Amino acid sequence: MSTGTEQRSGAPGQAPEDRQSTARRMIIAVDGPSGSGKSSVCRAAATQLGAAYLDTGAMYRAATWYCLQQQVDLTDEDAVAVAVEELPLNISTDPQHQVITVGETDVTEAIREPRISEKVSEVATNRKARQLLISAQRRIIDAAGFIVAEGRDITTVVAPDAQVRVLLTASAEARLRRRGAQLGGGQSEESLKRQVLERDRRDSAASNFTEAADGVAVLDSSDLSFQEAVDSLIGRVETVQEEPA
Ligand code: DC
Repeated sequence: MSTGTEQRSGAPGQAPEDRQSTARRMIIAVDGPSGSGKSSVCRAAATQLGAAYLDTGAMYRAATWYCLQQQVDLTDEDAVAVAVEELPLNISTDPQHQVITVGETDVTEAIREPRISEKVSEVATNRKARQLLISAQRRIIDAAGFIVAEGRDITTVVAPDAQVRVLLTASAEARLRRRGAQLGGGQSEESLKRQVLERDRRDSAASNFTEAADGVAVLDSSDLSFQEAVDSLIGRVETVQEEPA
């Protein structure tokens, strides 16, 4: 797979390279089920911290978009792996400017469509495709140095040595409500359940994101406002930043 990342922009008055050198190299790994709010919480936290941001779910989604575009049979494990190997993916790590392209096509919006949400588990549970995507994610994380990376297996498989490891959870009710709002409120309850609860059930065959592994802190956002969840994540990062190097 050829993966590229777009240079993220720095804060006003500070070039990205300056921020890299003043910030300690730090990986903030966040896992959680769909609708837990992890993408928006992680993006806001990364923005506030001046860190890069990686949405690994978007990589599985882009891989699925590409397989469908290439008319690959998603049940054919080897054919999916071949497609993922050749996937010309570019994903930005700027938390304020999320752009995902496959070749020349901007798929930022298309990968959020229900037709992708309903198929993405077939790629996510493909062992070979998963290994390729995990390797690409590790390269992106390593190149960024100071990054918030989120997904289902970041705390356990992709970056188990991350300095901050958090499992962001929320009740099923809160997750259905949030995903519905994200999709503009026009989804039936049945469709939302398929996209959230049913998908989590299928995805849990590939990784355990419902229980925190050893050393992973649980952050339950069910009763937290968005800003409270962001502040809680940032608080954990600041605690680690204050520890002696
Ligand atoms: O977070 P999301 O809904 O955009 O994720 C899309 C899919 O990718 C989801 O079905 C689970 C899968 N995924 C995964 O298996 N491992 C990750 N690290 C991230 C996402």
